[in-house]
Amino acid sequence: MAEHNRFQELLEEHQVHLVEGDSKRAALAWERFCRALLAHIQGEEDVILPAYETTCKHERGGEPDVFRREHRRLRRMLTELSAWLAAWAGRTWPTTEVILLVEREKTLKDLLEHHDQREDRYLYSALRTALDGNGQSDLLRRFRQAAAETTPGAETTAGSGPARAGQVAAAWLGPIYRQVMEGRVRPRVEAPWAASHERLLELQAALQAGAGTHEEQEILTELAALLDDATPMKNFPAGLARDVHACWQLFHAARRAAGAH
Ligand SMILES: [Fe+2]
Ligand SMILES: [Fe+2]
Repeated sequence: MAEHNRFQELLEEHQVHLVEGDSKRAALAWERFCRALLAHIQGEEDVILPAYETTCKHERGGEPDVFRREHRRLRRMLTELSAWLAAWAGRTWPTTEVILLVEREKTLKDLLEHHDQREDRYLYSALRTALDGNGQSDLLRRFRQAAAETTPGAETTAGSGPARAGQVAAAWLGPIYRQVMEGRVRPRVEAPWAASHERLLELQAALQAGAGTHEEQEILTELAALLDDATPMKNFPAGLARDVHACWQLFHAARRAAGAH
């Protein structure tokens, strides 16, 4: 539980550097934050949650899968924001971009705060009741070991450049379109889902082929337009809105970075 407080501090450190215009330090602080949070999540999934599953009773709202689902959302947000930062690597951040990123990071902050409170209330308090002092020490030792063995995943090793950021979002959007096309989820309105999906795959392939800078900007602009015009976010089923929104954010961030001189 003590680690939870640290995350908000590490995130704040990153934001202070960002607002002060020191993008290099902001990126380094972001990386520190990501590593710490990912190690913590890994330790919880490998050690804490299995112990909770076998030794504790689960109250409503404190089921193990709720925590796993929130971890997935946190990981996805880390990937999105890492790609956003990487899209701007080596470029000068305009103030408007700093504002947009900080605003988006507020979503992560809220999600993290909510998640940590839920864990404190259900997960850790139940374990404290169920385990004696020795059991708790042993659990903590194994948690630290699992956390220390965590290697950074795709969340922080996304590479850099606007095209890479566009690819991350395109790789998320493809399966979302397929879910709608295959009827696994019901769209709110009719839209050219199949045509948009096909175009998405073409643009994704063009990005992968390493288009030139000028072309890259055009591709990213069209990717952003796919969600603005052809199949706007509000047309997706409510359950997908959050993930589509993440794609929208990233396409636009990549498009702006590609257009910056
Ligand atoms: Fe957690
Ligand atoms: Fe936690």
